[in-house]
Amino acid sequence: MKRILVTGGTGYIGSHTVVELLQAGCEVTIVDNLSNSFRVVLERIASISGRVPDFIEGDIRDRAVMEAALKHSQAEAVIHFAGLKAVGESVEQPLKYYDNNVNGTLVLCEAMNACGVKKLIFSSSATVYGDAAAPYREDMPLGRATNPYGASKAMIERILEDQCIADSDWSVGALRYFNPIGAHASGLIGEDPQGIPNNLMPFISKVAVGQLPQLSIFGDDYDTPDGTCIRDYLHVGDLADGHAKALKALATPGYHVFNLGTGRGYSVKEMVETFQRVTGQAVPHVYAPRREGDLAEVWADASKAKRELGWSADTPLEKMMEDTWRWQSGNPNGYRG
Ligand code: NAD
Ligand code: WQD
Repeated sequence: MKRILVTGGTGYIGSHTVVELLQAGCEVTIVDNLSNSFRVVLERIASISGRVPDFIEGDIRDRAVMEAALKHSQAEAVIHFAGLKAVGESVEQPLKYYDNNVNGTLVLCEAMNACGVKKLIFSSSATVYGDAAAPYREDMPLGRATNPYGASKAMIERILEDQCIADSDWSVGALRYFNPIGAHASGLIGEDPQGIPNNLMPFISKVAVGQLPQLSIFGDDYDTPDGTCIRDYLHVGDLADGHAKALKALATPGYHVFNLGTGRGYSVKEMVETFQRVTGQAVPHVYAPRREGDLAEVWADASKAKRELGWSADTPLEKMMEDTWRWQSGNPNGYRG
């Protein structure tokens, strides 16, 4: 497939995927409302790939915008990153999350139907497994999400699966991401959370660059080898490559689910130690109580993506740390200059 519409393409994972697609020769049109990203990302994408993606500033909940974007781009498929992702905020403002994520996806799919575009890759999350025991396999039943963000992803998956059952021309790839970290090796694009980061890796890098005084490690009394939680961290570049490979699976109609993770986990302590060793930067840290809703161990059974897509996330943790630090140290204020 050559012509791809990417929603949320100026965001963290979207921007890395757009680079991958442009480098593979695809024509890319981005629709993003810039609610959690910056226009300057487009220039950075162009410096890396030598090509400028088409950009439409717009909201996925605006049916007219989405139909115009699909027609203008002549897209054969859509990769759908646009969504809100802050777990804590979703607990405080559930309606905002259901409207943006669930309603936004419904409007997008209606626009796609109207334009005859029936191939979609969706950004799902390991959070849909709830509190099942790791490793997670795609054929496990979905768990009860512990927050509205997670529930919105599970609802969207159900909607997309139902649509594939109802219309056999549809094909959907639901990609369940584990914990993406790192940045493009150029140091030009990376993760730029607004305010105090919720996630571990941006928190570590902001402590290292001197913008936050110390990291709190949430819990050291879990039933894990060193007492801290274990997660499956994968390089965002590997994740971007996973999207390019998943597009091929859309040749077969129906609903396809893939875990995108490495298949191995690291503890919070290992993450902090590896970052300090690789970058030579100190990360002052203290131990704090457990964070509500955290699971002790989360990692993927990543064998289905390897078997069916020929994809695996092989970038070593050290390189994920190096790239995170190159991005953070070169852009201490992210895209804000
Ligand atoms: P991000 O916030 O950096 O990117 C999302 C982009 O979508 C942003 O550029 C934002 O401006 C845009 N957007 C949001 N709502 C929109 C709307 N209504 N209309 C148009 N654009 C809109 O997030 P990310 O980390 O790149 O995540 C991308 C997707 O992957 C999200 O759907 C997220 O839920 C999912 N995901 C992320 C992670 C993670 O750890 N980063 C893990 C699992 C799943
Ligand atoms: C990782 C580990 C924390 C911050 C979340 C979402 C999930 C998905 C990815 C989108 C945990 C610990 C963290 C800190 C810490 N997003 N930690 N101090 O919780 O696996 O997943 O992001 O779909 O839905 O829930 O990732 O990076 O927040 O935390 O000790 O300041 O780091 O307790 O063990 P998580 P995370």
